[in-house]
Amino acid sequence: MNWFRDFLLPQGASTHVGEMDGLFLFITILTVFFFFFNGGLIFYAVRRWRRRSDKEVTPHITHDTRLELVWSLIPLVVVMVIFFWGFRGYVKAWVAPNESMEIIVTGKKWVWEFEYPDGTRTLNDLHVPVNRPVKLVLTAEDVIHSFYIPEFRLKRDAIPGRYTELWFTATRPGVYQVFCTEYCGKGHSDMLARIFVDTPEQYETFLREGDEQVRKMPLRELGRLVYENKGCATCHSLDGTRGQGPSWKGIWGRKERAADGKEYVVDADYIRQSVLAPQAVVIQGYEPIMPTYQGLLREREILALIEFIKDLQ
Ligand code: CUA
Repeated sequence: MNWFRDFLLPQGASTHVGEMDGLFLFITILTVFFFFFNGGLIFYAVRRWRRRSDKEVTPHITHDTRLELVWSLIPLVVVMVIFFWGFRGYVKAWVAPNESMEIIVTGKKWVWEFEYPDGTRTLNDLHVPVNRPVKLVLTAEDVIHSFYIPEFRLKRDAIPGRYTELWFTATRPGVYQVFCTEYCGKGHSDMLARIFVDTPEQYETFLREGDEQVRKMPLRELGRLVYENKGCATCHSLDGTRGQGPSWKGIWGRKERAADGKEYVVDADYIRQSVLAPQAVVIQGYEPIMPTYQGLLREREILALIEFIKDLQ
């Protein structure tokens, strides 16, 4: 059966995989079986009891108790099996063990923010240690988003003003894709995050010093990475196309007229302020929708962005 699962489903990497996949395969196989079984019966009956001549009269049949019992009771049993199997998996996926490590996940247009027990915050990159139960507490700032990790077989809505939970124990180190699966506006399809399942040592290093990328990469390269991974790319293009926010092409050193009527020169201070307090100056013709990056980008990452923007002439 394993080849069949690998063919149908993405690789599994959490403790929920066994139960979810088992049920999924059970339903799939059942459906395929009954598709052919019922189809075959219909085909057989149509041929076997077709009207062969004009003289044949269709018999008057009202009902058949035995037959009706059979086609009611068998599906009832099957559906009950699916219900209890599914319910068990449902409860298991939502009720975290007490010793789980807790991470707060906030969805907002159009990024995922993660806050760890020690106060570390990251954007769009979630680090978790392997083989340790992790509980995610989900919420949203603006509209409903949904946090979906195919490899973990988990998905749950993030709802403004409410907390929802899910938990998992990641079983294989690696990088896994997270999708937003609730349509949340123009940037919905770009609302992606990654889960890094770290070895305990890697996880410790991450908490202490941040990602290796942030520490070691040359500024300009890091700037591009920040642009791509931290949600900037969702609203700011690099080729001059108008997005939710102004394109970055040629913006360095330019004078921009803001909503308050004044002109501002786009320099390092301006960029820094736009990142940390985006509502302070909003360029004319754009909505004040950018979230603040206060506490979410390290100083080095902001510097990297500035260097990156300088280059986009
Ligand atoms: Cu957030 Cu779709």
